[in-house]
Amino acid sequence: MPSMPTAPQNEIQISEQLKTKIIQSIQSNHGWISFDRYMEHALYDPELGYYTGTLRKFGEKGDFITASDISSFFSKTLCIQFKEIFQSVARSIIEIGAGSGEFALQVIQSLSSDNEDINHYFILEISHSLRRQQYELLINHLPSHLFSKIQWIEEIPKEFEGIIFCNEFLDALPVDLIKKESGKYYRKGVGVENDLFVWKDKPIEDISSYDQVVLEDLPDNYLIEHSLHIKNWLNKITQSLSKGIVLIIDYGFNQTEYFHEQRSQGTLMCHFKHYAHDNPLIQIGIQDITTHINFSYVAREASKLGLNITGYISQANFLINCGILNLLETLNLEDRALYIKSVSEVQKLLSPSEMGDLFKVMILEKNMDIDLLGLKQNNRVTRL
Ligand SMILES: C[S@@+](CC[C@H](N)C(=O)[O-])C[C@H]1O[C@@H](n2cnc3c(N)ncnc32)[C@H](O)[C@@H]1O
Repeated sequence: MPSMPTAPQNEIQISEQLKTKIIQSIQSNHGWISFDRYMEHALYDPELGYYTGTLRKFGEKGDFITASDISSFFSKTLCIQFKEIFQSVARSIIEIGAGSGEFALQVIQSLSSDNEDINHYFILEISHSLRRQQYELLINHLPSHLFSKIQWIEEIPKEFEGIIFCNEFLDALPVDLIKKESGKYYRKGVGVENDLFVWKDKPIEDISSYDQVVLEDLPDNYLIEHSLHIKNWLNKITQSLSKGIVLIIDYGFNQTEYFHEQRSQGTLMCHFKHYAHDNPLIQIGIQDITTHINFSYVAREASKLGLNITGYISQANFLINCGILNLLETLNLEDRALYIKSVSEVQKLLSPSEMGDLFKVMILEKNMDIDLLGLKQNNRVTRL
């Protein structure tokens, strides 16, 4: 079993500074903050948070790898779907939480090489340091006529028409932790003892404020994550979207699987230099904290807001429906090394033991009536 890697000295210093800030926040809040608040500090403190700070996060030298780091076949296949959608809506994309900027770069290059002109590629990114990284990557790799299509935005433009896309964005939003023990509900939060963060629970008097679900049906000794941010985010996009498709890719389950007894202690995970563990109270600000998505909850909230939920499908089935395997066939077989590398990358995107089944694609629509290529087979939307 691999053990937790040791943090370098510069990272320990950053972590200690953030710890001091969070301890102050806890002390000024009578010794307790909700986990939601703690996670917000840890990931998004304006200077020292994991995503807002300057340490490397993505790729082999960071903490985790996402689909566009694995293979450009991911973005190329999504472009096939985007092109079909562009037959029915304005040719604009908003990417939310663009990470390293790799996906944006690959999409803009791929659409351009197919002579598919786009109007705008908007990026909505909370982290200034990632915005800078995205800017550097995109300005250095795109000709000026393509770079001029990109705009970093603070909010989704009013009356937006087009595609809203996000990959591994929802799993990075802060969550509350709610647990049920001996028939009683508690909100798990964080306190400080002997200069260390410790878990502290507070009883919940009124569970109706947690509209996630079914808290009544939660079996005893269960813990779940609940993100109000998801609801707020859906609200914002619905208000601004006049016509279009919201295409969400993330890891997670429908409600039945989410509340499976194997997950009775929730889905929270931390990633530190490719080492995965479940303790968010250490390595503050230098490790990722993430949870799986309850897609039934997303669907229910989206539907309350008037969005049509037309797709819920595994990443593998979506990419295969869109033609990822045909794209592989276009490779020059004489370049054996490239072919073997590409097949192995695509395998990671599709294999049920890697990203193929755990990752889902959810499609939400507003004022659209279109049968998407990516949903033509194995759409599991009725299982939400
Ligand atoms: C796990 S990373 C995924 C990055 C990228 N989509 C990928 O697949 O590599 C989450 C991204 O969402 C961004 N993010 C988190 N909360 C955000 C918010 N409220 N608004 C915009 N971006 C946000 C993070 O800064 C980061 O870029």
